[in-house]
Amino acid sequence: MSQSIASLCFEHHHGNVRGIETEAPRLSWTYVPGSAPESWDFVRVTALRSCRGTFLAEESTTVPVDANVLLDWPFPPAGSSEHIEVHVRLERTDGSHTPDLVGSFEPWLLNVGERVADMVGPAWPEPWTDFRHAPLIRCETTVAQRPTWARLYLSSYGLVDAEINGQRVGEDVLTPGWTDYRNRLTCWTYDVTGLLRTGDNVLGFWLGDGWYRGRLGWDGGEPNVYGDRLGVWAQLEMAFEDGTTRRVFSNSYDGHWFAAKGPIVRSGLYRGERYDARLEYSGWSSPGFIQDGSWERVTELKFDPVLLHAPQMEAVRKIGTHQVESIRRIGEGRYLLDFGQNCTQRLRLSIPQMPSGDVVTIRHAEVLEPDGSLAIKPLREAEQMDTFTSAGEAAEWEPRFTMHAFRYATISGWKGDLDPSMVDCRVYGSVLQRTGWLNTSHEMLNQLHSNVRWSMLSNFVSIPTDCPQRDERLGWTGDIAMFAPTASFLYDVSAFLSNWLVDVEYDTHDFGTVPGFVPFVPVSDWRRPASIAIWGDSVVLVPWAIYMESGDRQLLERQYPLAEYWVNQVSGYLSEDGVWDRRPELAFGQLGDWLDPSAPIDNPTLSLTEQNLVATAFCYQSACLVAKMSEELHRHDDAERYRHLAEHVREGFLARFVDGSGRMTSDTECAYALAIMFGLLDDSPALLLGAGDRLSELAVENRYRVSTGFAGTPYVLPALTRTGHVDAAYRMILNTQSPSWLYEVSMGATTTWERWDAMLPDGTLNPSGMTSFNHYALGAVADWMHCVIGGIRALQPGWKEFEIAPKPGGGITSAHVSHASPYGVINVSWRIADDSLIVDAQVPFGTCAVIGVQQGEERLPSGTHHRKYAL
Ligand code: BGC
Repeated sequence: MSQSIASLCFEHHHGNVRGIETEAPRLSWTYVPGSAPESWDFVRVTALRSCRGTFLAEESTTVPVDANVLLDWPFPPAGSSEHIEVHVRLERTDGSHTPDLVGSFEPWLLNVGERVADMVGPAWPEPWTDFRHAPLIRCETTVAQRPTWARLYLSSYGLVDAEINGQRVGEDVLTPGWTDYRNRLTCWTYDVTGLLRTGDNVLGFWLGDGWYRGRLGWDGGEPNVYGDRLGVWAQLEMAFEDGTTRRVFSNSYDGHWFAAKGPIVRSGLYRGERYDARLEYSGWSSPGFIQDGSWERVTELKFDPVLLHAPQMEAVRKIGTHQVESIRRIGEGRYLLDFGQNCTQRLRLSIPQMPSGDVVTIRHAEVLEPDGSLAIKPLREAEQMDTFTSAGEAAEWEPRFTMHAFRYATISGWKGDLDPSMVDCRVYGSVLQRTGWLNTSHEMLNQLHSNVRWSMLSNFVSIPTDCPQRDERLGWTGDIAMFAPTASFLYDVSAFLSNWLVDVEYDTHDFGTVPGFVPFVPVSDWRRPASIAIWGDSVVLVPWAIYMESGDRQLLERQYPLAEYWVNQVSGYLSEDGVWDRRPELAFGQLGDWLDPSAPIDNPTLSLTEQNLVATAFCYQSACLVAKMSEELHRHDDAERYRHLAEHVREGFLARFVDGSGRMTSDTECAYALAIMFGLLDDSPALLLGAGDRLSELAVENRYRVSTGFAGTPYVLPALTRTGHVDAAYRMILNTQSPSWLYEVSMGATTTWERWDAMLPDGTLNPSGMTSFNHYALGAVADWMHCVIGGIRALQPGWKEFEIAPKPGGGITSAHVSHASPYGVINVSWRIADDSLIVDAQVPFGTCAVIGVQQGEERLPSGTHHRKYAL
């Protein structure tokens, strides 16, 4: 019998999950396409429960075949450190069944009382900022027998890497990740059974500044945002064959925990790492190492274990590698390397033997200047520079507590030839499950799609950031507000984004409004969060995107109060006529259609479209969405109230920004696109179509180049499509003149840019001081590509019902779109042949598709379908 169950998830975590927050995770699984689950009688779910390696019980139940999305945990809850192996299979009443699909989960230390470790760190005096030596911490412990089960629970102030007996624990990097440390700190769980042995054992920890105390933000940034002392929180739990257990935990009083200054003499996420191999302690994390006087007893740091929580997001790890495409010698011991892809990555070098004290320097940049040198100006103060000082021996080395975003690197101070085998380029990001694919007959569009995906991957590193390279890398709320629908199509981001939203909630309550970036950092002009449209609307738009993708009502329920809070807050800023024209108290006012191509280089808010128009339109959309959320959650009174508010805003919008003939006060593509897509004109077909016509006229006037910024860009092509101007939409997406998406592609981009003209046609860089080559916001156009070129769109939350409506155009002759929905993989391919449009579709079990290629609609049940339409 072949496998019929394709995947298993606990909450929104895939596969085997260690250290989960909930004791009763909901289960989801999908079926292999074509496995005909409906021909089976039920699904058997079996849980094998063990605790610390000792088998406890087997529990089994049957559930309907269609209960496969977010099934409530069908057994008693799991306890701390219990390991539950879950088997799922299809069965018939005659006992026949498919093979089991197996996954497992394990709650962490659920009760605060179980978290007995202390946060400990070095006691030596340090400068208040910068040039602080990164510590090593070690603890020796002896066990009479090798444990049969062992877990390391790990967290830190700063970043931590753990080793046991000289071997690295797990594969995670940038642990514990970035959360709003004032309110919560993630504790990761590792299975370390295989690393421990009978007799002496050593736990070793590398610590680095990271987000905790490293500089964050621009204009010099802010050090010590959360504290100025690094520390580790570690709890090793062991169980032995004879049934006994033992716990080793970080503390300052048992005399086993010591700290010394290690070989990392300085480390910063932005600036890079300085590593001096002469300061290594050989064997420091293995038994037999003799500590000299430089190891000091650790000190206890102020810490509340209530802050600890289990990971709700995926860990950051190596997610790929890049081969070096070219190595060019540019001077004595100096090389320029091209890795072909701009993204978040680091180099691991095989450094040849050199005289002790000699230094290898590695610099990283996204693009080259016209003279072929690294373009480091756009990095501002984020140097992205690593140095390795040799101890006179050959070494394998990669920086530990920094990240770089680059395609190009220079290596200087190298002795001899630099061979490709000496360079391992490792790509890093949060480990997300891919769920979206699009491929078309148009190569440049495929490159654009790839660029969108790479900008997403580069910026989904623990939190959703604006950019991965310069001295910012912050969780700008507006960027993800615009990009969330695209992100949730391409990858399963339900856990990742919901985790971040927890901090958005903390920060909103701590600072009185939704900050421009979360976790909030008081930096430069942004010391006091102000209420700004779009950036604030993230608390409505991001949860709504997750809900439409996952169908998870519990997540919606959790996010609802914050969405409501925001809309209520903004309703207090409206003028009497319903227009948002009174706040925020930010030096620039509203950010509006941020960075439209006409805005002056030094003020991206001065876009073509009135800021108050943009703000009011988004306020209307948020009020409508909160009304929809209320309906979904059966809060009918709330829904009524928010519909009423939306109506008030709509009237104000129409009265203030639209004249009787449908012309808008800002006669811009952004203005018409927002009005059309948010439904502001839906009451009047004449106004709606008139707005569409005007939008398409503007597209012609702009010679199909882009004229919008963050706010308008996601909506222009959908608005043209919605109002019957799909040809104009294709002309825009296929345009290669600046500003346009394919202009970037024609300039060799491998990611999406922050500014339409980040690189000018002559290859020089935009001198603005805010020029990133890796921002995802303007890549939100991929959502239109999935819906219109690929032709699929969710009609109901979780893709329970979806539309298949590809709209071929632009000379594209075929496309294939694929999406791993919560119910299983959706595949749609179309091609044009013999004056016909041929569509092949695969509709997963439990869903239904509405195919609307031409006049009239047809409902397609699960299964595969083939249709041919005359063109
Ligand atoms: C960031 C943006 C962000 C904006 C808002 C920029 O510096 O990179 O993506 O949304 O500031 O002011």
